[in-house]
Amino acid sequence: MPDTRVRRRRRFLVCEPRHFAVRYAINPWMRPDTRVDVDLAQEQWRTLIGAYRAHGHTVDTVAPVPGLPDMVFAANSAVVVDGRVFGSLFHAAERRAESGHYDTWFRAAGYDVHRPESVCEGEGDLVPAGPYVLAGTGFRTTREAHREVQEFFGVPVISLTLVDPYFYHLDTALFVLDDGPAPDLVYFPEAFTPGSRDVLARLFPDAVLATREDAMTFGLNSVSDGRHVFISPRAEALASRLADRGYLPVPVDLSEFHKAGGGIKCCTQELRS
Ligand code: ARG
Repeated sequence: MPDTRVRRRRRFLVCEPRHFAVRYAINPWMRPDTRVDVDLAQEQWRTLIGAYRAHGHTVDTVAPVPGLPDMVFAANSAVVVDGRVFGSLFHAAERRAESGHYDTWFRAAGYDVHRPESVCEGEGDLVPAGPYVLAGTGFRTTREAHREVQEFFGVPVISLTLVDPYFYHLDTALFVLDDGPAPDLVYFPEAFTPGSRDVLARLFPDAVLATREDAMTFGLNSVSDGRHVFISPRAEALASRLADRGYLPVPVDLSEFHKAGGGIKCCTQELRS
């Protein structure tokens, strides 16, 4: 395959895992008694940030807040399209306070923030893909929030229903490789209802179909800039299929974060201008 994949420079918002821990269980990956090695988590996280910068991306940071161990999962705080911010309203009471801290960052950076009326977990469930916003529901973000997102951005929102509790956010089951007008993407079909699978097959007939193993190793919780794919080294099989498709896998291990049900994409909010 010729080397034709083109990187687009991104701007990311992240949150240092200084207060990261597993204290409550709001998805099947979390066990409240799990010991997290915070030093290792910080080192893994810094490696990710270093990899983004080394590949030409800009990284902004929001200050971590004590008592909010999941605040490191910046993707959940909002979805930003054309410089417009649709904020978050978390399903779990334990995470509700994160939204206000992110909103403060967005406002200080000059953005207005739209506050959702219904449960909505940002890029965890809302994935801009070419002419659409793909939107997950079933565990966290509601159908009502999907309607609100469509009204707010004026972009067609495609609702997709998730069925497997291990893949409770859309960004654990699907990611965009190339977000051009005809987006290239990869997803794990069994994470979705049959109807949602059919919708994905109709819209993206050429998508890469991932395996359960790819999904369980957090291979679908990856970030692509159109050329480089920042991906878990545990998702080797998927990385090699993506390499065959012309992408350049950049392995980054966030194993400490898997204990909380998160990976590379969860730690990364994209600020789309
Ligand atoms: N412990 C967090 C939760 O369950 C993990 C969030 C992962 N974020 C993501 N974008 N999938 O809410």
